[in-house]
Amino acid sequence: MPEWTALGKHREQLAEVHLRELFERDPARAGRYTLQVGDLHLDYSKHLVTDETLGLLRELAAAAGVAELRDAMFRGAKINITEQRSVLHTALRAPGSAVVTSDGENVVPGVQHVLTRMGTFSDRVRSGDWKGHTGKRIKTVVNIGIGGSDLGPAMAYEVLRAYTHRDMQFRFVSNVDGADLHEAVRDLDPAETLFIIASKTFTTIETITNATSARDWLLTGLGAGGEAVAKHFVALSTNAEKVAEFGIDTDNMFEFWDWVGGRYSFDSAIGLSLMIAIGPERFREMLAGFHLVDEHFRTAPPEENAPLLLGLLGIWYGNFWDAQSHAVLPYSHYLSKFTAYLQQLDMESNGKSVDRQGNRVGWQTGPVVWGTPGTNGQHAYYQLLHQGTKMIPADLIGFAAPVADLQPGLVAQHDLLMANLFAQGQALAFGKTPDEVRAEGVAEELVPHKTFPGNRPTTTILAAELSPSVLGQLIALYEHKVFVQGAVWNIDSFDQWGVELGKVLAKRVEPALTEGAEVPGLDASTAGLVAKYRELRGR
Ligand code: F6P
Repeated sequence: MPEWTALGKHREQLAEVHLRELFERDPARAGRYTLQVGDLHLDYSKHLVTDETLGLLRELAAAAGVAELRDAMFRGAKINITEQRSVLHTALRAPGSAVVTSDGENVVPGVQHVLTRMGTFSDRVRSGDWKGHTGKRIKTVVNIGIGGSDLGPAMAYEVLRAYTHRDMQFRFVSNVDGADLHEAVRDLDPAETLFIIASKTFTTIETITNATSARDWLLTGLGAGGEAVAKHFVALSTNAEKVAEFGIDTDNMFEFWDWVGGRYSFDSAIGLSLMIAIGPERFREMLAGFHLVDEHFRTAPPEENAPLLLGLLGIWYGNFWDAQSHAVLPYSHYLSKFTAYLQQLDMESNGKSVDRQGNRVGWQTGPVVWGTPGTNGQHAYYQLLHQGTKMIPADLIGFAAPVADLQPGLVAQHDLLMANLFAQGQALAFGKTPDEVRAEGVAEELVPHKTFPGNRPTTTILAAELSPSVLGQLIALYEHKVFVQGAVWNIDSFDQWGVELGKVLAKRVEPALTEGAEVPGLDASTAGLVAKYRELRGR
């Protein structure tokens, strides 16, 4: 595309430019390069961009048809082409009065119906009205799911802990390693435990295996028969048949639909554990936050469109500056699982190397997304961010207010936390020149070691507080950012064929481990490892 070539040329012109210079040249830059979307304040002034860069990036988006694909998504077109599905997670948070169609049917009433059922159920569990098999109230909810059926609720539960029902416990089991379930239930009373089996397909081996073990644990612990399952197991799925086959009454199933991708499903029934934790009202506030950003993405002009901007900035670095990864660095302990959640969202969506027509792409696609809460990262890997040879664009996320129920001494720590966020953005962008180091009287031989090159781009995202709505806004912002990038790269961001092969091979190899069975076509390395494993296990 000529727009791509133009950006390449422009990049060469900016090769030697430094953020220090961009700020000196344009004193209004900091004010101009900000956006307000709902409660989110975005500062993108510390990026290696000029007005010309942004204009060229927007031209690329226009030429790639980002707006057309976005509109197609919102109206329910089957933009997940390899699975022939609509992509309508935005309908999960649309108001009840909205009309959104897939296959000619308005999906909104169904969404609202399930939300209402979830609300009633959550209230019953929270209030103690829902009783276990022996008549005791539920004290612990264990969500069993993996990928999109785990990461969202597990992350959001941490994020919104301050809003949760503090007399209840919530645990999340995903790993097929038996240790995960063991640690989750070892101190629980089965009579007071509710399992939520979350699986879109209800065929995922990790989840079904853990769910079966959980059922055994429950029935053994209660000394009861299968009739106890009804009071202790509910299912979140699109697959009623498989749910019934597992032995869960479909009256205890909360449905969602094939137009909700796994990694986009946490605001569907998959969020039930979160809804029980924070209550239906807070859950609805979160959905409203999502919707606010959906509407912004759908309607804001390109110059003010935050997901478009973030997506294009990622393309700028990934495709024109050879950045291989993107760090998400929250300055909030509550966001400790946020980056892990974004890894699936981004890397499962855009980790593709063929385009929508099936041809090999000739450009870089999705980045490696990584990061942990910022202050901890500062004492671990920030050294590389500041002085390493790799360019790693980063998002710094912080909040003006600490959570309400912190004790006063801990509230006072918040300024220090945020001072770190601001200091890191500053150091990454502007660094420290050799002259500044010398002016501190540093010995000449140490000057290169103590110099910070700076010029490392960051976006700062600030909000007043970390509320349910703000969480919804943040997630929708990243969802649509990922969408924009997939659209520009012309890849299908909504399938995940890359996870299939490993699943098939694991099934094939398992009998070799357990029974020593011959696996036809097993390569020599893997065969050797299997033999060693059996030897170590004394088989
Ligand atoms: O990892 C592949 C995947 O299909 C994800 O996309 C999905 O979130 C996860 O497995 C779990 O799938 P399910 O909800 O069907 O159990």
